[in-house]
Amino acid sequence: MSNSLQGFDARAATFAADVEQAFWLNFWISIILFASVVVPMLYFAWKYNANKVKNEDVENITHNTALEIAWTLIPTAMLMVLFYYGYTSMQALRTMPAESESIIVHVQGKKWSWKHTYEPNQSGFVHKSKELYVPKDTNIILKMTAPLNDVIHSYFVPAFRMKEDVVPGRVTKQWFNSNVLGTYDVECAEYCGTRHSDMYSKIHVIPKAEYNAWFEGNSKVGPGEKEVAKSKGQELYDDNGCSGCHSIDSDAILVGPALKGIGAKHDAQYLKDAILNPDKDVPEGFYPGVMPPFAMPDADVAALVDYITTGK
Ligand code: CUA
Repeated sequence: MSNSLQGFDARAATFAADVEQAFWLNFWISIILFASVVVPMLYFAWKYNANKVKNEDVENITHNTALEIAWTLIPTAMLMVLFYYGYTSMQALRTMPAESESIIVHVQGKKWSWKHTYEPNQSGFVHKSKELYVPKDTNIILKMTAPLNDVIHSYFVPAFRMKEDVVPGRVTKQWFNSNVLGTYDVECAEYCGTRHSDMYSKIHVIPKAEYNAWFEGNSKVGPGEKEVAKSKGQELYDDNGCSGCHSIDSDAILVGPALKGIGAKHDAQYLKDAILNPDKDVPEGFYPGVMPPFAMPDADVAALVDYITTGK
């Protein structure tokens, strides 16, 4: 586990300052309004206490036109100011840059991991990664969705001051342009079940040249990372986010059963069924309906079962 809220103070996207300005304006106007109501209320409660004021002194009080106009106009003006700053920063966030001048990344949010899939590079290779790598000073458009049998998640990058829901069967979008090199946290901001709090990722903002070299290369890992040879099964295990719920190298129960030594307990057919139709035979102590059924070709299931049972 990494430290949480990495880079929170960085204001690392072009519109972060606007969002922050709208936030602090809201905050201070709220403080002023709160004080302007509560402080006089306490003062008058003390001043016009029943022991000090006789009924005949107050029975003829009707209203005060000047005061009433003032307390209507001042909050209205404040509301307009808040609306202006809120609306303009929202417009910056919601107006997508042209796709031709942006990098498009497809995001999949799934119980309980994030997956980023890039558009094909010049040689047709498609980068897929858990963590997102983007060049500095470049428009990035995220097209986000979740599988139909999943739940709502939310892609939240505190350092960029941006957040948008990720909805099963729908594509939602958000964009950013980061002007500060660094690594920033991505968190799920929509309660989505047992491991919601572990559903996070990172965005690495790197120099353009480094990004381009990585993007046009066909490495299966992030920039600067060493590629480790992976079996087909291990690739499927990582791609499908299996490790989000199953520990493969310990007895720890994350959500589903640990897979260490599973080959000694069950045959390949049982494990295949457990992937394609998890509710068919749910082990004692676990519940049906938690693991979604996975659909994949026979060869893939076989490779995955091999990896789970033999580690290869
Ligand atoms: Cu996904 Cu919370």
